[in-house]
Amino acid sequence: MNERTGVEERQRTTGELPGFFGTHEPLPADEIRPEVWDLIDQWVAAHPGGRERLIPLLHRVQEEIGYLPFPVQEYVAQQLALSPIEVYGVVSFYHFFTTNPRGRYQLKVCMGTACFVRQGQRVLEAIESLLAIGIGDVTEDRLFSLEQVRCIGACGLAPAMMVNDEVHGHLTATEVRKLVRKLRARARRESAASAEEEASGDEPA
Ligand code: FES
Repeated sequence: MNERTGVEERQRTTGELPGFFGTHEPLPADEIRPEVWDLIDQWVAAHPGGRERLIPLLHRVQEEIGYLPFPVQEYVAQQLALSPIEVYGVVSFYHFFTTNPRGRYQLKVCMGTACFVRQGQRVLEAIESLLAIGIGDVTEDRLFSLEQVRCIGACGLAPAMMVNDEVHGHLTATEVRKLVRKLRARARRESAASAEEEASGDEPA
């Protein structure tokens, strides 16, 4: 196994990598968890090969953290012995890769024809004003991100949107407000449950 240098170790723990993309703003500690660097190391070790590993690895990382920030792209480049520009070229070429953080709840509002003629624009505007974000943005608490998509295959439910993998239809501004309230409450419940679980795990046996 390769010994990691002190510099590499620091880069992994701080998320700061020097190089092609210039100086990065230091990333909040929770933004790239140490497990992400480990995941990349382990994936590379388990999949010997060359450049053909790039897209599957990027998929795996995006599946884990929802997007591909530049420090991660640089680390992937290092580990696959590619140049950062090659990695960036692939990430920017394919629409399914993104460098924008996504929220825990990804709201994808449909603007296909059926949804558009049934006031899909109003649904979009209601979300934008409720969450104070625009298309492609994420809320500060990282709970919601907003995208506009074309036909999600639920035209009979127009206007419709997806929340992660769930379809929601017949939407109105009021329905959207209710849905956002429900999702916030769900996130609070889940956070409280996991805090409780952590606390009970900390108790001495
Ligand atoms: S146009 Fe919106 S689901 Fe088809």
